[in-house]
Amino acid sequence: MLREQAALLDLTHDTVFVRDEQDVITYWNRGAQELYGWTRAEAIGSVAHVRMRTVFPAPFPEIMAELTRTGRWEGELVHTRRDGTPVVVASRWSLRRGAPGRVPAVLETNNDTIVAEVLPLVRPELRRHGIALRMTLAENLPAVLGDRIQLQQVLINLLVNAAEAMRDVPAERRRLVVAGARETIEDDDWAGITVEDGGVGLGDLEAERLFEPFYSTKPGGLGMGLSISRSIVESHGGRLWATANPDHGATFHLALPGVSSPPSGPSTVQA
Ligand SMILES: Nc1ncnc2c1ncn2[C@@H]1O[C@H](COP(=O)(O)OP(=O)(O)OP(=O)(O)O)[C@@H](O)[C@H]1O
Ligand SMILES: [Mg+2]
Repeated sequence: MLREQAALLDLTHDTVFVRDEQDVITYWNRGAQELYGWTRAEAIGSVAHVRMRTVFPAPFPEIMAELTRTGRWEGELVHTRRDGTPVVVASRWSLRRGAPGRVPAVLETNNDTIVAEVLPLVRPELRRHGIALRMTLAENLPAVLGDRIQLQQVLINLLVNAAEAMRDVPAERRRLVVAGARETIEDDDWAGITVEDGGVGLGDLEAERLFEPFYSTKPGGLGMGLSISRSIVESHGGRLWATANPDHGATFHLALPGVSSPPSGPSTVQA
């Protein structure tokens, strides 16, 4: 790979690596180092799918057959990081056919999927309530370390609350916007995720009230969703808060430190 190309690949927060015919890693960008935890020197020369204990969504020969036939493959993989924690990634492979005398190589680009995974779980519910969903996730959203199930639970809570807040509003206000962007705070990268709805909004209520345990305006509501969500987020070194939209509805803001800027909370310390 050209030096210039390699420098460019280090700028992206995507995980990018190259592996040869024998599945041996020959290039490993900074994003890969951040997500998986192995340095370039440690990764290069090792067998990719042994090192990362890759779990494939289909039999490996089938995947390779598709890659060889079309030059591309896309799917979801489970990898294991250096510290032993699993990560689910959306993976894209492209085959670099060897020029005469050069071995073919595979360029693999992986994105952490913590937000993308949640949407299929809530989509049917949203559809049932006639809620339109728009999602924009920046390509350079930093990877986040933590308990995936817990963090997904937070997002599900926010999405369910938003859907409930829109139950009785006119149809044209039933829209949900989920956006993910990279934010730089004092030189550290954060993943900022907002969930914006067109629902009943906060009225005169101070936004902080919503996060109090047992605060609920719903018949049968426990009022625990937001308070639990906030404690999960804070145990990951992050923040969760709400603001009123200028017109209708509310926006919930979730900020989580990216892997390149480890938080100081004791429960989030990972090797
Ligand atoms: N998107 C939203 N728009 C307007 N109000 C909201 C929104 N999300 C939450 N709230 C208000 O905050 C309250 C607390 O939310 P929380 O998720 O903690 O509890 P809940 O949804 O009432 O019950 P549960 O424990 O089942 O989640 C809700 O009852 C509602 O009044
Ligand atoms: Mg709730």
